[in-house]
Amino acid sequence: MKNILTEQQAAKVEALLQEMTLDEKIGQMNQESPSIVGGFDVPFEELIEMMTDGRITKEEFGKIMASATQDFHEDEIRKGGVGSLMVQDPVKVNELQKIAVEESRLGIPLIFGLDVIHGFRSVYPIAIAEAGAFDTDLFERTARMAAKESRAAGVAWHFAPMLDVARDARWGRVSEGPGEDPYLGSEFARAKIRGLQNDHSSTDNYVAACLKHYVGYGAVESGRDYNTVSMAMHLFYNNYLKPFAAAVDEGAMTVMAAFNDLNGVPCTVNEFLLRKILKESLGFPGFVVSDANAIRECVVHGIAEDEVDAGIKAAIAGMDMDMGTEIYAKTLKESVESGKVPMAVIDEAVRRILTVKMWLGLFDNPYVSEETMKRYETLPKEHTDLAREAAEKSIVLLKNKDRILPIAKDRKIALVGTLAESREEIIGAWAMSWQEKDCVSILDGMKAEFEHVKYFPCGGPEGDIDRNEAIRAGDYGDVIVAVLGETAAMSGEASSRADITIPGRQRELLEILMETGKPVVLVLMNGRPLALSWEEEFVPAIVEAWHPGIQAGNALARVLSGAVNPEGRLASSFPALTGMCPVYYNHMNTGRPGSKSKFTSRYLDAPLDSLYPFGYGLSYTTYEFSNLKVEEDGDVLNICVDVANTGDRDGRETVQLYTQDVAASLVRPVKELKRFEKVALAAGEKKSVYFALPKNELGFCDNEGNYLLEDGLFRIYAGGSSRECLSEEISLKF
Ligand code: NOJ
Repeated sequence: MKNILTEQQAAKVEALLQEMTLDEKIGQMNQESPSIVGGFDVPFEELIEMMTDGRITKEEFGKIMASATQDFHEDEIRKGGVGSLMVQDPVKVNELQKIAVEESRLGIPLIFGLDVIHGFRSVYPIAIAEAGAFDTDLFERTARMAAKESRAAGVAWHFAPMLDVARDARWGRVSEGPGEDPYLGSEFARAKIRGLQNDHSSTDNYVAACLKHYVGYGAVESGRDYNTVSMAMHLFYNNYLKPFAAAVDEGAMTVMAAFNDLNGVPCTVNEFLLRKILKESLGFPGFVVSDANAIRECVVHGIAEDEVDAGIKAAIAGMDMDMGTEIYAKTLKESVESGKVPMAVIDEAVRRILTVKMWLGLFDNPYVSEETMKRYETLPKEHTDLAREAAEKSIVLLKNKDRILPIAKDRKIALVGTLAESREEIIGAWAMSWQEKDCVSILDGMKAEFEHVKYFPCGGPEGDIDRNEAIRAGDYGDVIVAVLGETAAMSGEASSRADITIPGRQRELLEILMETGKPVVLVLMNGRPLALSWEEEFVPAIVEAWHPGIQAGNALARVLSGAVNPEGRLASSFPALTGMCPVYYNHMNTGRPGSKSKFTSRYLDAPLDSLYPFGYGLSYTTYEFSNLKVEEDGDVLNICVDVANTGDRDGRETVQLYTQDVAASLVRPVKELKRFEKVALAAGEKKSVYFALPKNELGFCDNEGNYLLEDGLFRIYAGGSSRECLSEEISLKF
């Protein structure tokens, strides 16, 4: 285990361990969330279901909840029976912390955790969007801001970053992570860890990150959430494990195990993953928490006979903390006393948990001060500016026929689609502590940026559309801006879709708008790649805004007006049709790559490749690559490429470097991202971009996890997307 505490701190952890009873130790391994008691006649789970299936409205649900009381487990905390809680109100945090620190026998502080996935008060674009900014400095700054805001609310532990490499857009959780590429995912991971964890100038400024979902969850079969995962081990090592390994290397303090099984063993009880790979090979020093209820679900999964058995298996596998089932709290003592779980397993888990608490400064500073609590009552400008910057950099221009965009400020804009006026949908899935007053809707942003904007709701992702209103929009506008896509609830957890075209009747709405004869700009707000073959064929301009966060309106309006030149790229390929999923650029070579000829790897009724590939995104200017040079210099490949801004606007191009191992002892991907760099180019300007790529990054893992560097031919690609690249070949000996 890596040393992350001072000697004195480590000694304090050991001293506590000596003093703790078995009950107190197991208490540390127990995470609770407030349970809802009273105020309604049906179980809480059913109440949620009633709201989800429409038997009660959101408002009715809200009223019921307001009249319900919550049990915060005060008695268990007092007895030392709780190590962690999910709470986000700082007053409550202090109240519960006081019980732990002042009324429990050993005064061990609680660690409060929460799903702070893409911002706390300042909600930034969803991760798949932010990753498309290809900007590690931005990734780090948004994480640092989120850490400060949440710590001011007593939340010292983020269940983030989500690092699942995800290649099937049907899976709703593609929204939560950095997309399909392990290298971009790893850079995202490292930056997020630095941002969340590294500012130790005050305990107000950092939190513990939680890497999730360890591991392989992004590969759930058929994109259906919680489904099974089977994969060859070389794919595991070379793709799915990589962002986790990078984040551990960067110092990540906690990890959450995934719900799924990996090759037959649920991650929750997977000793190979938790002990051998994570704790032993990667040297992870922190603790592992289960996903919600996952230990119990091992019984349903059919890997444990009952809850006692599930607790034993999880503990032995290296699961340090139980999220939400109380199985550890209720059964682990007996399992230790009967010799089924060695005491050393418990000690190790508790040592890890106490280490993280110590590292967080919770022993010395367990409370949130009054002053800190008030710090973000009103969001400082610096925070909203960062949210706007992140949104602007994440927006991707997918199509711009005849340069319809940007739109001059004095043109009459018919703004269509109910998503345009929403303050709630713009923030996307997993937005925790946002406040409506912080959110700028598309409508508000457009009105502030343009002189003539008229709103025509016409319809949205759910429900009917209004044909006559759509026709009126055409009568009014010089340009129609149609904001269509998905609600926030259509992506994220438990939100897989079997058809990833624009949902509901929005396509029909689009057709009516097109029939008006006015130029239509389609602005998409969604949490996953969509299948847009129809839109690509017929709609002249398409802007992918994703769920852009609290500054959605300002960011989008500035992109549409040209105040901002779009620079976002896709972190995930877009299929033309749902049936092509999973679609990703870095797929394996086959013996019969898809081509016009029939007996090749292709569909009869779909294009050969993605509609928009990874790394793709247009700009209001154009870029040209030339002069790719690759030279071997000892252990390094020196790669240089020229990139010119050939248009009439300043912009920032994302220069992408890919490689291919042409022949190896295992089949390798057709391309793999190795580096990227954002380059600012004034109109007409040309720059040379250099990459020094260590040759030892050209290797790969075999099915046993051995890293191999094999002599032979390599192709080096540089360009502005994974599809449009220059290429050179070089033969290497290692
Ligand atoms: C389930 C989700 O899978 C996970 O991402 C989340 O952190 C936990 N629940 C806690 O809310």
